[in-house]
Amino acid sequence: MTPTVFWKDGNVEMLDQSRLPTEVTYVTCRDAETVARGIKDLWVRGAPAIGVSAAMGMALGARPLAEDDSFFDALADVGDMLISQRPTAVNLEWAVRRMLAFARSNNDQPVARIKEMLVEQSQRMLDEDIETCRAIGKAGAHLMPADGGVLTHCNAGALATGGYGTALGVIRGAVEAGRKVRVFADETRPVLQGARLTCWELMEDNIDVTLICDNMAAHTMGLGKIQAVVVGADRIARNGDAANKIGTYGVAILAREHNIPFYVAAPLSTVDFAMESGDEIPIEERDGEEITRVFGQTQIAPEGVKVFNPAFDVTPARYIAAIITERGAVRPQDLHLLADPNTDPTPLLVR
Ligand code: MRU
Repeated sequence: MTPTVFWKDGNVEMLDQSRLPTEVTYVTCRDAETVARGIKDLWVRGAPAIGVSAAMGMALGARPLAEDDSFFDALADVGDMLISQRPTAVNLEWAVRRMLAFARSNNDQPVARIKEMLVEQSQRMLDEDIETCRAIGKAGAHLMPADGGVLTHCNAGALATGGYGTALGVIRGAVEAGRKVRVFADETRPVLQGARLTCWELMEDNIDVTLICDNMAAHTMGLGKIQAVVVGADRIARNGDAANKIGTYGVAILAREHNIPFYVAAPLSTVDFAMESGDEIPIEERDGEEITRVFGQTQIAPEGVKVFNPAFDVTPARYIAAIITERGAVRPQDLHLLADPNTDPTPLLVR
């Protein structure tokens, strides 16, 4: 699997996903500002990968800060700058807050040492993320068909995480368990994460994948080619409402109409237990040029047309058969019980 983001020689190497699938190139990030640009411009994207990158951005941002009492406030400013890049994926804020809390909890150490510890902590968060994805993969593998088609939307794969993926982690887990899964990837207008990224990474792993345009999902389901849908999430509210890439809500409605189970796979770091429902989730709106031009080039709509370009939508919990987390697959209405790390998930598991 091609790594998304990693430390090399004291800097952060970030795969520029905006160039995939035709070019595999890395940008060397030497400061937090470059990481921030990478998050904004989608060099790195996908909620968990954004979180890990932000953690690394915090470690880079700490480097030039004065080694005196001003350190913690200045680090908090770096965090605010990173958080402001994209509003929907809660993992961004979660990772920044975790890094800040980690730094503060070590305030008995010299600041020079805290700076090193922040690098180590961000590496641990990357390693943890991969572990978490593998656990999600194991927790959801049995929900995939033994021999059948699975539709996914956007890219919730290795590229969207530290590695392995959430929705694609479940598919990988199923394939590793011997299930014959044929993936149908929605192309995912307007940024084409499905066409460019999901197809690319599944083909790299020799997992059967077929590309369809977003508007072909209903027809493909009607033909009986899809037995399950699995997608990732950018933020899940306490009641199980789940924000994910624009178009996901429509897929959930289509799945319901065709009696196909619709699953959301995400780490618990994507659950915003403080948010009661999906109505509160901030939805990022992006530049209209993403819709009116093909990757900033060929114009495909009249000059000056009004554009509405929300990057995410919210699927109400009632459409979701199970939310697959690293602690198991649970019904959306039981998700809030996992806020307590001492809850035994066993009786809640969807089998
Ligand atoms: O705009 P993007 O590419 O960051 O959107 C990504 C998604 O919507 C993913 O499905 C989500 O972040 C889950 S990634 C494991």
